[in-house]
Amino acid sequence: MSDVVLQDITHRYDSEDVLKHVSLTIPHGAFFTLLGPSGCGKTTLLRVLAGFIVPSAGRVSIGGKDITDLPCEKRNMGVVFQNYALFPNMTVRDNIAYGLKVRGLRRNEREARTKRYLALAGLEDYAGRHVQELSGGQQQRVAVARALAIEPDMLLLDEPMSNLDVGLRARMREEIRAIQRQTGVTTLFITHDQQEALSISDLVAVMNEGEVLQVGTPEEVYNHPGNAFVANFVGTANAIDGLQLRPEQLALTQAGRGGTTVRIEQVSFTGPSYEYLVVDERNGSRYTVLEKNLGQGCTWSVGDVCDLVQDAQGRTDTP
Ligand SMILES: Nc1ncnc2c1ncn2[C@@H]1O[C@H](COP(=O)(O)OP(=O)(O)OP(=O)(O)O)[C@@H](O)[C@H]1O
Ligand SMILES: [Mg+2]
Repeated sequence: MSDVVLQDITHRYDSEDVLKHVSLTIPHGAFFTLLGPSGCGKTTLLRVLAGFIVPSAGRVSIGGKDITDLPCEKRNMGVVFQNYALFPNMTVRDNIAYGLKVRGLRRNEREARTKRYLALAGLEDYAGRHVQELSGGQQQRVAVARALAIEPDMLLLDEPMSNLDVGLRARMREEIRAIQRQTGVTTLFITHDQQEALSISDLVAVMNEGEVLQVGTPEEVYNHPGNAFVANFVGTANAIDGLQLRPEQLALTQAGRGGTTVRIEQVSFTGPSYEYLVVDERNGSRYTVLEKNLGQGCTWSVGDVCDLVQDAQGRTDTP
């Protein structure tokens, strides 16, 4: 199996370490996501993997073979950059075929493969168009098809959907995941959107300030965050008695039933649920609590006093 292993990677720009002792294993065939705030080092890590930069320290290997010093053109990795970086003066077909030409594939093979990846990305009808005649979402698919067409050992996707609206983004995400499942290519995906990371990944690595804080399945990092940063970055967290509890793990009940007495400060409607911001007036602590939207309005209003309790069912009693 060709697992990708990053071992104690440190990278320094000027006088600042932007990657600090990063060690990660990306299992063969996995959809692996780097999740972290802007400037935490995600793109730098991708550039180390792709071979655009040699890290100041540490090693990169694939299937046990050290590739730290191997130049990018010898790595056989398909990269989708944040801005897609398509060739604007070429057609969709030529964009996809470009990497195959560079690699010296024969014409027959080039045409067959281009056709296959045009179809996989649902772009057959657009093959002859110039890329500036496409929508953002279509361009994004060209970029993914172009990266896949070289049949890379690894696919590196740097926030490929950052410019799309919510609906298109969700569709694209499903498409990328489906293509990845079909081809089985090991994929590194970068995002700072926690919903996206949780819904698409086999494994998520949460990064901050050049460090990897936790690696796990989406459920592991969401349900068992290793520290407060992970808890807050991968969703909303309430720190209660040393536990990090999610808004859906709390409920509000009639005052005087033995919970923590709180006052409702804000109610916001998010569609599937209502989100209450409540305050414990004895110490000023604030908590976020979710209530499922059952189509009958929310139970509590601003100013109401009630009790905060843990509720595995995520339900709220009527007052
Ligand atoms: N060529 C460079 N020279 C100097 N500093 C750089 C260079 N490229 C990136 N940096 C710095 O390294 C840090 C990490 O940058 P990087 O691009 O990896 O962040 P990122 O996690 O991808 O952020 P974003 O989500 O905004 O894309 C930032 O502080 C950035 O300013
Ligand atoms: Mg980046």
